[in-house]
Amino acid sequence: MRLAVLADIHGNLPALEAVVADVERHRPDHVIVAGDLINSTPFSVEVVEFIMQRDWLVIRGNHEFYYLDFNSPRVHPDLENPSRWRALHQLNRIVPEHLGNYLAVLPDDLSLKWPAHEPLRVVHGMPGDPRAAVFPFTTDEQASELLAGVVEHTVVTAHTHIPGERQVDRQAHAPSALSPNPPFKEPELRAGHWHIINPGSVGLPLNGDPGADYAILDSLPGADEGEGWTVTFRKVPYNREKTLRAYFDRGEFRTGGAIVELFYWEVVSARPEIIEFFSWARRQGLNSLDIDRNLALYKQHTGRDTAIEAIDPTGLYKTAEFRHA
Ligand SMILES: [Fe+2]
Ligand SMILES: [Fe+2]
Repeated sequence: MRLAVLADIHGNLPALEAVVADVERHRPDHVIVAGDLINSTPFSVEVVEFIMQRDWLVIRGNHEFYYLDFNSPRVHPDLENPSRWRALHQLNRIVPEHLGNYLAVLPDDLSLKWPAHEPLRVVHGMPGDPRAAVFPFTTDEQASELLAGVVEHTVVTAHTHIPGERQVDRQAHAPSALSPNPPFKEPELRAGHWHIINPGSVGLPLNGDPGADYAILDSLPGADEGEGWTVTFRKVPYNREKTLRAYFDRGEFRTGGAIVELFYWEVVSARPEIIEFFSWARRQGLNSLDIDRNLALYKQHTGRDTAIEAIDPTGLYKTAEFRHA
């Protein structure tokens, strides 16, 4: 059994198209999309239309929830902040209703069980929380707590935008999320360790290399639990200029505010620009809600915009109007 696992496409159609060409050469039995199809780069509508037409296994990520929960009682209060989330507010205006209806009925996770292969759990972050994730800095104890209720030994997760795999043993103190009256006896429902696989991000990689990331998984029939799948990480160059130009051609850069400018930086640098900016603002004690002003201060103090200009493959950022200075 061979799977191609794609995640965190974030509206980057040129990256997705390049990845699909690479995927087709590997002839997988299934293609899985582990959430965050939309938001952050300019082709969210095209990416959803592209995926809708394919017989792929697709789950939702936190960015689908940002879209689906918007203007509803479910919305997180943060998301109402038009400065921090202006790109999201714009997205809600451009995604047609039929695409929203497609996202509305996607599952939040998958439990895949082929007869001769080790079961596989697919989530965007962690079960029940698409924003929880196992980052490289997450300790084994923390990872074990997050995974406590996961009975599958192999777990595909995304959200961090950093490809990688690791083995995590169940820590002695970690609670089992079993109900007091499990439907089967406990040993069959309790993983002692997990093989965590993160394919990285197709559209917004944050591991310092701007090519699109995804992963090929091959099963090893008869392998011990937690060793049933091997991973090949793929890095695919794509037409990044097309994605970057679209921020300007479609007006997103002009109207999207500081958050769109930061997304642009991430496509250019493949570094966690947004996390680093918010961490800096927090250390300065700045009001996190006024991000347009905070970004202007960030540039003055760090010169990060000049560094982005120097590596922007389009040269457009250097001459852009509407930058927040
Ligand atoms: Fe994401
Ligand atoms: Fe995410």
